[in-house]
Order: sequence, then structure tokens, then C-alpha cells
Amino acid sequence: MAQGTTARHVAIIMDGNGRWAKRRGLPRAMGHKRGVEAVRTLVRSLKGGAIECVTLYAFSSENWKRPRDEVSDLMNLMRGFIRSDLEEFAANGVRLRIVGDWRALDPDIVEMLEDALERTANGTHTVAVALNYGSQQEIARAARAAAEQGEITVETIERHLFTADLPPVDLLIRTSGEVRLSNFLLWQMAYAEMMFVDTLWPDFTPQHLQDALDEFAKRERRYGGR
Ligand code: IPE
Ligand code: IPE
Ligand code: MG
Repeated sequence: MAQGTTARHVAIIMDGNGRWAKRRGLPRAMGHKRGVEAVRTLVRSLKGGAIECVTLYAFSSENWKRPRDEVSDLMNLMRGFIRSDLEEFAANGVRLRIVGDWRALDPDIVEMLEDALERTANGTHTVAVALNYGSQQEIARAARAAAEQGEITVETIERHLFTADLPPVDLLIRTSGEVRLSNFLLWQMAYAEMMFVDTLWPDFTPQHLQDALDEFAKRERRYGGR
């Protein structure tokens, strides 16, 4: 397989907001707030770039286990973010996608997201946000849907994943030094290149993404061949 290829689909596990805040003696909520700012800067930087799709892990199916206050802070940040940034995203050619069981979120958020999806439907590059997302649940659901239609194969399962119309993940980046996937895009990352960086998510900049892309370009992908 050729080297020097560009990543079409980059997936990011945005981890480390809590530790970012803790190191500064700040409440966790402040870490999440700065995390949102890092998302804003990153999404802005995608304009005119070569990446077709970025998928951002924002809230996992397992994150409901966190204290109620933290969950509610995260949901409120989401509301605020859509309100403040949707216009700019749409103007910049972002096509928003949501992966996960997002329709189970609070009704006002569901409504805001429906509107956001509609308003960005004609964008040129995709920003997919994983919300209430768990990969095992997604695969089980897709397998069930495939079975109902008759046949369980790689192709029929794939057709029922949230990411059905997105390219496979080329590059995964996880921030904060943790080396695990935490139930994120397990199927879609079958042949993804993975990078685990120590930077905490609020400190992650477009330059960090560029560094990862430069490293990606040097990797040899084989897909089992030789
Ligand atoms: C990532 O930061 C944000 C979400 C999971 C929503 P964390 O809140 O997991 O931060 P750490 O891992 O505790 O530092
Ligand atoms: C993964 O981070 C989920 C998101 C970044 C949204 P977590 O912080 O929830 O993962 P674990 O618990 O450390 O595996
Ligand atoms: Mg974490």
C-alpha cells in the first residue's frame, strides 16, 4: 500500500477535560467549557482542508454513569454550543452529522439538533458528533436490523451503522494519554491507524492535528496484504 496518503476520515476521542481543570484547581465544568473552545477552533481549521470527515466523541453511552451535575453541565454546554456556533458552521461549509442514540436526549436538544442537521445538510465537509454513542450497542442494533432484512453479512451490518454513508476511519487520535477505545467506532476502526497523545483535550490545537496527519502520511498501511 502506498505511503503519503491523506486521511479522509479522522476520529477523535476528546479526553482529559477533567484532568485539565484539576491541574489548575478549577471545577471540572471549566475543563469541559475549555474543551468546547478547542472543538470550535478545530472545526474552524478544517475549512478548505483535505479531511472529508472528522468524528468527535462528545458523550458516550457510558458517560451517563457520571454524577448528575456533570451530565447536566455537559448537556447545557451542548445547548450553548449549538446556539452560538451553528450559524458559523453552516456558513463555513460544515455538514453536521450525529452518531449515536441522540434521539434519546432531552427533547429540546433533539429539536435543536434536528434543526442543525437540516441547516447544514448541504455542507462540503462533515463534522460528525458522537452523542450518547456506544459502538457495541451500534453493532448489535445494526446486526438486528440486518437480520430482520434477511442476511447478516459485513455489508448488511455496515449499511445499518450510524456511519453508513461515511468513509471508514483512517486515523484515530485519543488525547490525554489513555490508551483505550472506550467503546468508540470499534467496527469502523478495523484498519485505522491509531495515535495516542498526552495532550489534554482543552490544550489540543489545529497544529496537533497537523502533526498527527504528518505522522499518518508516513505510516505504511497494508490491510493484511504485503
Ligand atoms: C472528556 O473529558 C469529556 C467527556 C468524556 C465528556 P473527561 O471528563 O473524561 O476528562 P478526564 O478523563 O476525567 O480528565
Ligand atoms: C471517552 O472518554 C468518551 C468521550 C471522550 C466522550 P471517557 O473519559 O468517558 O473514557 P474512559 O472512562 O476513561 O474509558
Ligand atoms: Mg476521560
